[in-house]
Amino acid sequence: MSARWFGFTVGVVAAVAVLALGAGVWAQGKWVAPPEAKNVKNPVAKSDKVVADAKKIAAANCVACHGAKGVGDGPAAAALPVKPANWTAAAVQGESDGEIFWKISNGRGPMPPWKHLSEKDRWGLVHYIRTLKK
Ligand code: HEC
Repeated sequence: MSARWFGFTVGVVAAVAVLALGAGVWAQGKWVAPPEAKNVKNPVAKSDKVVADAKKIAAANCVACHGAKGVGDGPAAAALPVKPANWTAAAVQGESDGEIFWKISNGRGPMPPWKHLSEKDRWGLVHYIRTLKK
């Protein structure tokens, strides 16, 4: 093989590897929480204070991607290869509290895991997201 062909071949192999890696990381398909997360009940009672506190936590941590109204149009969203979920949509609202809590806790791809927020704060965020139902 000539040096030119060798260089071309290496280039093609590298490009395919990068594409395959990209597909593995980003073409993730539907995000489904594990079945055991589904029936976990929200242990935090809903109140105006819980919702107001969660709204502040969301403003500080989530709206950059999910947008001020939670529709997924935050300023950082445009740069992401996977679009942030629209919290007001049936796809999110149709999930159980336990599933939403699990996703907030574990994250996926550009959605960071939020286990460093207390469980109480994460359940509060679930209550807040529920208030955005269309
Ligand atoms: C860096 C951008 C970013 C930030 C910050 C972020 N998210 Fe996300 N979020 C995403 C992306 C992207 C997805 C979609 C992930 C996927 O489908 O693989 C997502 C998905 C979700 C989902 C899943 C919806 C569903 O039912 O499938 C929930 C719930 C969620 N985010 C809540 C939050 C909360 C609460 C915060 C703040 C504590 C937050 N996110 C902060 C980017 C972000």
